[in-house]
Amino acid sequence: MAQIFVTRQIPRPGLELLEAAGHELTISEKDGVLTKEELVTALQEKEYEAVLCLLTDTIDGEVFDAAPKAKIFANYAVGYNNIDLEAAKERGVVITNTPGVLTETVAEYTVALILSVMHRIPEADWFTREGNYDGWAPELLLGNNIRGKKLGILGAGRIGQEVAKSLVNGFGMSVIYNDIKQNEAFESEVGAEFKELDEVFTEADVISVHVPLLESTKHLVSAERLALMKETAYIVNTSRGPVVDESALVEVLRAKKIRGAGLDVFEDEPALASGLIELRNVVLTPHIASATEDTRGKMSELAGQSIVDMLAGKTPEHVVE
Ligand code: DGY
Repeated sequence: MAQIFVTRQIPRPGLELLEAAGHELTISEKDGVLTKEELVTALQEKEYEAVLCLLTDTIDGEVFDAAPKAKIFANYAVGYNNIDLEAAKERGVVITNTPGVLTETVAEYTVALILSVMHRIPEADWFTREGNYDGWAPELLLGNNIRGKKLGILGAGRIGQEVAKSLVNGFGMSVIYNDIKQNEAFESEVGAEFKELDEVFTEADVISVHVPLLESTKHLVSAERLALMKETAYIVNTSRGPVVDESALVEVLRAKKIRGAGLDVFEDEPALASGLIELRNVVLTPHIASATEDTRGKMSELAGQSIVDMLAGKTPEHVVE
């Protein structure tokens, strides 16, 4: 039996796996993100052999050192930019994530965000609730069709590819994309065309961001690149906030240099860039693209299974390096 620390309450399936394997769980009782100090203090309380952490926890050398017996930190997310992988490597700590199980859900959500902004659904909802609807009108809240438009995928990993498939098959979009490597299977599956990064910005009608957050992708969507976009184009981000220069995005949205945006992630979550909230041409949601009961349960299972495997002396399936 090992002691395991869970940094916040998560859906039960993974916790049940850990309990069934005979481990003892300590789940943080704070209904919120632990500060660094709280996390370090909590980890020092017992001799934890594993930690189940969240994308909102900053996991660095100081945190690893607070739990010197912990062999694994299982991140309850596919993204792991919150973890200092070098520091983990130096200490021989294994890091795992939860890929695969959230691909379709995040892709569905991305499509929903695109539909929402292009058909102005949240704006129309507010308009109606606020009592402004006084009868059908020919030019009331005109949006734009998706069908036949050109989708620009930034990052053709699992989720980017799934978004492209849904929009090609469901809405007849054509696809251009940029990634660090060209993907011929993706190209033949959806007729996607590889483009230089700047070309995706100049040519796409809808840009969907799916790159992971790395040093090299911070502000990949910069003021300069936003300036390349068509005035009729849209951009949505369900990846990581800092990939987009959010203040620059506020400027182009405010000046109507692009038509609209959909953001599920923010540069400095949970804070929003100044001016973002006042804009009507952007749909804002609180990092919930993977938040279905089913998917969050499966993410929990994967994180729990990684710890069960590690503590049983097996290599977990989803180790990140
Ligand atoms: C992830 O897993 O990285 C998402 O951002 C949250 O599910």
